[in-house]
Amino acid sequence: MPAVETLRFLFNEYRRNARWMVIGFVSLLLGTLCQVAAPVFIKLAIDILQGPVDAAREGPVGAFAMRLLSSNGSDAQAFINECLIWTGGLALVLGVFQFTKRYYLIRVSRKSEYELKKRMYEHLQDLPATYFDNTRSGGIMSLMTSDTEAVRMMVGPACMYLGSTLLITPMALAIMFSLNTTLTWFALLPLIGLIVSTLWFSPRVRRFSVLAQEDLEQISARAQENFAGTRVVKAFSRENFEVSEMDALGARYLKHKLAVSRNNAMFAASIWVLGGLGGLVVLFFGAREIAAGRFSQGDFAAFSLYNVQLYWPMIMLGWVTMLLVRGAASHKRITDLLNLKPDSAEVRGGEAPSEIKGRIEFRNVTVRYSKDGPLALDSASFIIEPGQTLAVVGPVGCGKTTVANLLLRLVKPDSGEILVDGTLLEAYDIKALRRFFAYVPQESFLFSETVKDNIALGLDEGAGRDELVKTVAEAAALDEEISALPSGYDTMLGERGVNLSGGQKQRAAIARALAKRPRVLVLDDCLSAVDTQTEERILGRLKQASRGLTVLLIAQRVSTVSHADRIIVLQRGRIVQQGTPDELRDQPGLYADMARRQELAEELA
Ligand SMILES: Nc1ncnc2c1ncn2[C@@H]1O[C@H](COP(=O)(O)OP(=O)(O)OP(=O)(O)O)[C@@H](O)[C@H]1O
Ligand SMILES: [Mg+2]
Repeated sequence: MPAVETLRFLFNEYRRNARWMVIGFVSLLLGTLCQVAAPVFIKLAIDILQGPVDAAREGPVGAFAMRLLSSNGSDAQAFINECLIWTGGLALVLGVFQFTKRYYLIRVSRKSEYELKKRMYEHLQDLPATYFDNTRSGGIMSLMTSDTEAVRMMVGPACMYLGSTLLITPMALAIMFSLNTTLTWFALLPLIGLIVSTLWFSPRVRRFSVLAQEDLEQISARAQENFAGTRVVKAFSRENFEVSEMDALGARYLKHKLAVSRNNAMFAASIWVLGGLGGLVVLFFGAREIAAGRFSQGDFAAFSLYNVQLYWPMIMLGWVTMLLVRGAASHKRITDLLNLKPDSAEVRGGEAPSEIKGRIEFRNVTVRYSKDGPLALDSASFIIEPGQTLAVVGPVGCGKTTVANLLLRLVKPDSGEILVDGTLLEAYDIKALRRFFAYVPQESFLFSETVKDNIALGLDEGAGRDELVKTVAEAAALDEEISALPSGYDTMLGERGVNLSGGQKQRAAIARALAKRPRVLVLDDCLSAVDTQTEERILGRLKQASRGLTVLLIAQRVSTVSHADRIIVLQRGRIVQQGTPDELRDQPGLYADMARRQELAEELA
């Protein structure tokens, strides 16, 4: 039941912030009392203008107010002055309570929003990589922004306005009934009209707002993708197409927003008409009551003021309902996210080794990405002894990256076992284990920070950081090129490292992996964007830098893997060949074919 869960959430938030809630609600209560008390003094002031006032004829509320005054009404001017002082004083006190009410109740909702965002962000860090593969980042963004905002509005403003409606309505009504029962019934008629109007327009406003919100999300997702892929857009002359797509989205957004405005405008119009009608009803029947002597002019003034005081809460009721419905829906989406189990391996509490040797073993590992998809890896078994380099080669889409994903626990196997130093991968605290791994993904990702900070990503601040960055950049054959940049290692990279070349980005990613001083190095096709000569140079330096490390080297090119200790050849997820480079070269099979073809291509180039 989402509603129950939302109520429990609200209850918890309010209980955790009980102190602020109490201050807020006491202020709300006292403020409402001030608001309800003020018209009584206006009534007395007007009444005394008509002649002497008598507590016995002023009704219970009027009589109570008269007891607060020191003047008994023998001096009309003094009596009026005192009433004015009370009215002004109440307005001032009301101002103070309005402030404390709003400040403390809204404070609770802001704090709750902050904590919710923090919790969501932390939780997102623990979710398996597959969650992000299958979820649009725009959707995650809107959970973090518009959904948390909707929950905040439910926790704060909705609760505040609901509280104020629930307090002022019975108080004002009770006084109105005590002033004149018949007139109160007549005055309620337009108010009922107002409730009907609220119930009619609010859902419409909400429906179109939701549609407009969805349009807006699409617009920002579209814009984001367009700007990120701006080179592709330009190269394929898609600008006009993109503009017309955006135009269509914009037009739909406009249509829905106009529908929101139209309904809001009609609602506002109905409020004014019904408000005017309410005034008319009170005036019409009030005048008859005054003429019949059942109603004083002061009563009439106070009655009109209470009547107006009732309007605002009635209008608020529709808005509050909308906030509650929307907040509950958003809260449900957020709870769904928070209830997603972190990948079992992501759960902390497993074995956290202080050192590893780096022996890796795959036993009959099988995995597919989707239920009915092809096997990305099919009963793969291999061992990498500590300090050895195992290369994985094979045609595109054969499952090479999948091997890396499995080892880093970014993907879980469907069957089979993966062991590190003889212990199952899932027995480890994966975060602790990953500290010994360094990974250069196939598509290098750099942050918009300096080159130095990008390379030192896995490192703590400390002495020797700059030297280390330089050493690993040298190992990745990148040092010279970085030194030639305008600000050297302090050069800021644009978004995703756009001001580096593809090959430079790859080498920056290699340097970053080395800087972590790992036990196990996973290189996924990370030299594809450099020429064979540079590759030769980097491999030579890498060999030195990675001495003693266990290396999983994934590559397309046979030339890349010729120095590996062992090679496995994958085809459609299956290991079809396995051996040392020399063994494979002499064996008829996929590896020898690939080697021949690539040598030929190299010669032609
Ligand atoms: N996130 C994913 N969701 C669904 N299928 C995937 C996913 N990642 C890979 N695959 C599929 O799994 C198979 C193996 O993919 P993998 O990325 O391991 O290939 P690869 O050998 O690294 O290819 P390349 O040389 O092009 O990098 C492919 O058929 C691919 O379509
Ligand atoms: Mg790959």
